[in-house]
Parts: sequence; C-alpha cells; structure tokens
Amino acid sequence: MPFSERVQALRAAIEEHNHRYHVLDAPLISDAEFDRLFRELQSLEAEHPELVTSDSPTQRVGAAPLPEFAAVVHATPMLSLNNAFSEEEVAAFDRRVRDGLASAGEVQYSAEPKFDGLAVSLTYEGGVLARGATRGDGWTGEDVTANLRTVRSIPLRLHGSRWPPVIDVRGEVLLWRSDFEKMNSRQRERGEKEFVNPRNAAAGSLRQLDPRITATRPLRFCAYGIGAAAGDDLPATHSALLDRLAQWGFPVAAEHRRVSGLSGLLEYYAGIGGRRQSLPYDIDGVVYKVDDLAAQDRLGFVSRAPRFALAHKFPAEEVVTELLDISIQVGRTGALTPVARLAPVFVGGVTVTNATLHNEDEIRRKDLCIGDAVIVRRAGDVIPEVVGALPARRTAAVRQFVMPTACPVCGSRVVRQADEAVARCSGGLFCPAQRKQALLHFASRRAMDIEGLGEKLVEQLVDGAIVRTPADLYRLGLLALANLERMADKSANNLLAAIEQSKQTTLARFIYALGIRNVGEATARDLARHFGSLDSLLAADVAQLLQVPEVGPIVAESIRQFLSEPHNLEVIEQLRAAGVTWQEGEAMVASAGMVVGKVFVLTGTLPGMTREAARERIEAAGGKVSASVSTKTDFVVAGADAGSKLAKARTLGLTVIDEAQLLRLLGVEQATQ
Ligand code: IVH
Repeated sequence: MPFSERVQALRAAIEEHNHRYHVLDAPLISDAEFDRLFRELQSLEAEHPELVTSDSPTQRVGAAPLPEFAAVVHATPMLSLNNAFSEEEVAAFDRRVRDGLASAGEVQYSAEPKFDGLAVSLTYEGGVLARGATRGDGWTGEDVTANLRTVRSIPLRLHGSRWPPVIDVRGEVLLWRSDFEKMNSRQRERGEKEFVNPRNAAAGSLRQLDPRITATRPLRFCAYGIGAAAGDDLPATHSALLDRLAQWGFPVAAEHRRVSGLSGLLEYYAGIGGRRQSLPYDIDGVVYKVDDLAAQDRLGFVSRAPRFALAHKFPAEEVVTELLDISIQVGRTGALTPVARLAPVFVGGVTVTNATLHNEDEIRRKDLCIGDAVIVRRAGDVIPEVVGALPARRTAAVRQFVMPTACPVCGSRVVRQADEAVARCSGGLFCPAQRKQALLHFASRRAMDIEGLGEKLVEQLVDGAIVRTPADLYRLGLLALANLERMADKSANNLLAAIEQSKQTTLARFIYALGIRNVGEATARDLARHFGSLDSLLAADVAQLLQVPEVGPIVAESIRQFLSEPHNLEVIEQLRAAGVTWQEGEAMVASAGMVVGKVFVLTGTLPGMTREAARERIEAAGGKVSASVSTKTDFVVAGADAGSKLAKARTLGLTVIDEAQLLRLLGVEQATQ
C-alpha cells in the first residue's frame, strides 16, 4: 500500500477510535493498540512531512505557544439567553412564544441541560476544523484554535458527508466533575494551586497561551447548536439538528428531549433537577428552545437574547456563615459602601469572604447585626449576596452597624442627601481613596488603557504624594518609579511606554476617563458623537447637553457640575498640555469602525426606530444603505415581519442582525432587558 493510503487509513482509524472513546464512550480497542496506531502514523508523517495535514490526529497537540490570542469576529453573534427562576416566568415565556407564532395548540420545544462551562464557536470549512473561538463579548472572541484542537471530543474533520461547505458549530467546553477532582489532586501532589471549580479550571485551561498545557487538561466539548451556515441541507427542527451534530461526530447532551407545551417544560425541569447530582458535569439550569427552526426565525431576537429560547435556572445555593464585621469602602465618587466580612464559606462553587451590602438602608432592611449568623447566596457567575440574618440564633454579643459620620480614609464629613440611599465622603479628590479610584478608572482598559497601572501601584503613587491627578501621570519619570516597591527597571519602562501610548486616544475615551458621575462609556460616546470636539462640550450649557440623545436632566446636571469645578478644568488643560490628543470629529467613526464602508439592507419593522432613522444613523457612521439584498450586502437588519429580503439573505448565508445589534455596531450601548 502506498504511504499516502496507509496514512489516510491510519488517520481514519484513529479518529474513529477517538470518537468511540471520547464521544460515544464505547471503545473497541485497548489503549495500547490505539497507541500503536498513533505511533505508526507519527513515524510515517515524520518520514513524509509533505503528507501532514491540519486535520491529522497528530496535529492535536504540540503547537508552539502564542504571544497572545488574535481577535475573531463571529459571523453571527453569540448571544445570551434570558433567564427565568420561577414557573410563572416560564409560563410567560411559553405565552409569548404562542402569541408570537399565533399558535392555537401546544408548542413543541427542545429541552436540554444548561452546561456550566464556556461557550465556543467552531468553524468548519470543507468539513475541516479551521478555527475555534471563545464567545468574548458575543461579537468578537479570542482565537483559541490551537487549544481547541487538543480537545479529543472535538472532531478535526466532520464525519459523513451531509455538511455545509462552511458552518459554525456552537457548544460548551467543560470539565467533568471526576476529571476536575483528578486535576486538583494532581495539582495538590505537585504543591500547585488548586482550581476553585470545574468552570474556572476549564476557563483557565482554554485560555492558556501554550497549547501543550491545554493538551494535559481533560477538557470536553458538548455541542448545542449552530451559528452561521452556508447551504440548505439543514434539518427543520432543533432536535433533528442535534442528531445531525451527533452524526457529524460531536458529543451532544444525552439528556436532550423534545417536549410539548408548558407542562412538558416543567416536567423536564423537575426531572433534570432531581438528577442534577448524578450527571457527570455541572449544570446551572435547563434551556428551552422552540423546536421548529423556521418558527425560531419568525420569533427572532429582542436586544441580546432570542425570543425563541429561555434558560430556566436552578435556585441559587444558600449557606449559613458568620458576619464577622462590616467595613467601609470608599468609591470613585465618594460613595461609602458597607461590605460584609464573612467567615469563609464555600457556596455556588467558590469560597466567599466578602459581600457588598450596598448601603445603610439595605442593612436595616435585612436586619443585620455584626456577629449574626447570616444566609449567603450565590448562583454561578453571580456576585455573592447576604440574603438575611437568622435572628433566632442572635446572641447578646452582636453589635449594631453605625454608618460613620467621618470618612474612614480622609476624615472628611460624610453626607447623605435626603433623596439618596448612598452616603458620600465630602472630601472629593482631597480624599486619597477617591483619588486612587479616579486614577484607576482613568487608566482602565476602556478609558485611557494604561496597562500596568494597577491597584498596588496607584496606592504607592498616591500615598507617596507622587501623583495627585491624572495629569501627574504624564509627568512621571523613571527615577520616581524605580524607587517604588516591586518596580524593576523593565516594568517601570513598560509603564512609561504605556502612559506615552495612551496619549493618542479618542474623544469618547477621554470623556469617559474623566470619571464624571453618571457618565458611562455609552454616554461618553454619545457626547463625543454629538459635540465632535472637547471645546464644544466644555462650552455646552444644560439646555445644549439635553439635546444629546439619551442624556437626561440628571446626567446633564452631573456634567455641568463637573465642568464648573475649576480644579477639573485645570486637570483637563494639563492633560491636553501633556500631549493627550485625539482626532476631533473622529470619535463617531472610531466607535462605529465596523460600519464604515459596509453595505446594509433594512427590512421589516424595527422595534425602536423607523427604517428612515436607522438609515440616517448608518449613513452618519459611514455605512451605506441599499434597497436590495445581494452578495455585496454586509448586514441585513431584520425587524418584525421581514419577508423575502430576509429569506434571500438566509439563502445567501448573509449576516442577519436585529436593531439591538445594529445599535451595538454603531457604538450605541443599550440597556439589557
Ligand atoms: S443556546 C441564542 N444551549 O448559556 C442562544 N446555550 O446565556 C444560544 N449554554 O453563553 C445559546 N448550555 O454558553 C444554549 N444547551 C445550551 C446551553 C447554553 C449552556 C450557555 C451558553 C451561553 C449562555 C447563554
């Protein structure tokens, strides 16, 4: 047999045994036999390097470490799911679906576990794994192809032949609990840090720059859907799609079921809930999807989540621990936040020692005393929360919490306005705590993006009176930095380079970096777009500020107050004098960079604006709007009752987005629903 045929035969056999072992859990040969086949292939490929292809099983492991992950723009965004915690919410979902589909009878759903891992998108071109990316912000993820190749249950080549020429397969990377335990006992033996929970361990493993490390971690994949797909030979229902994914070689949850109507959904939830502990992996709920894919299309999306699907979450885990103390944190705007210091307790997969108590009223409402036994709750990714105290276990030794009347950091008076729940330190930027937070905010990634200026460093700079205002950062020299703790020459130079680099910015980032109360990233972008230059913004009065879309009286008043403070104007001038600069009038294009030169087609009724308004916004951001769909179209923006244009877009495999996604492309942030 010629070499190339033997190589082909070995590859096919190895992938088949791989699939049987890692996906079907039904091996036919021993590990030793498998190793023999694998080594034969390795040696043939070593003799004939010209025969090595990217889908060869030998290529799963061994790629060189990367300096960083490249960004990948998802062909269709990876959206999130709306959550439900009660039967009423599920009933409301089912009602909305029936109304949306004008369906008289029960809707057929696909119900499946909600895996507690990390979402990834795998792109297959010509049936071969070409790229794998993390979800990222839903629009852009990180290219983790080399790491995903090491996951044995991910096919490098799709099985069978009925696959589209290009397809994104979506699913979750996770660790089984037993593998996680093994990983941790290995870490323990080696005296290395243990992982907190399977999800964190999976995330850490997938985001390794060195794929050889990922290859040692027993990651698994479970497919739950597809993203963009070219071609028309796709099943008509989600459950059939899952079967098709299994035929292509992907693991899919054995627990997925087709169920009918609300009662079917709730029965499924109860059934899986009862078996949760006996599943080999962690789940944090179940997911319901309208089974008919054409009906899914008709229902479409609201904001960032589909109308056709719902995550029904399990209740958050609750435990009891002791409230050791309540300390005060002073934030960027002077807000005093009481923080619960708790006796360490393991809940929802992590050890919790602190939890914010928000404000004084919250402490009274929950009737918490220092020394109380308290209930702490945490679900999955959610921040831990103190639910309340157990008054029956209260002893005479407990203490009431009293909000300090002087700032614990600078001693300034604490004021609480009658209409506000928050007490604030009145020290402004005199207060080192506020100054530190303001500097950290100024340097943060989405503001001026000064890498390396972290908490410890800011602490030293402020406490040592080296830096008082953001403008002082641009006067820092090597000498001042090199004297600081844990600051080698190299890191000092890196920091100075990062500071220098930050001088070239955008108006939107600059406005956001100033840390004006109530002005977040989205408002900063709106202001930059509306005024075009900093001087126009500085000159604006409240009436002019109110003309900015999305700016209301509270935001306008915050901006006016900030800009009427001579100290703030001085810092702004110093920053400009130090060389901080941006292209005036360019902010709009910069934030909407994705839109420039792109061709859009609008179809159907958009929920929040007329098609004319959408056209104006696209054109203002440098995009083009065309009346007809063709292969030249970059985005089809579809609203309710979109008809033939949408159908054509689907046949051409074009990117279809909704209003919320359009706004996002335009750089307009929306409140999530
Ligand atoms: S479907 C358009 N199915 O949940 C809907 N997601 O909140 C796309 N997840 O990050 C998601 N199990 O990683 C879907 N069976 C499942 C899932 C699932 C877990 C995760 C997914 C996503 C998040 C959405």
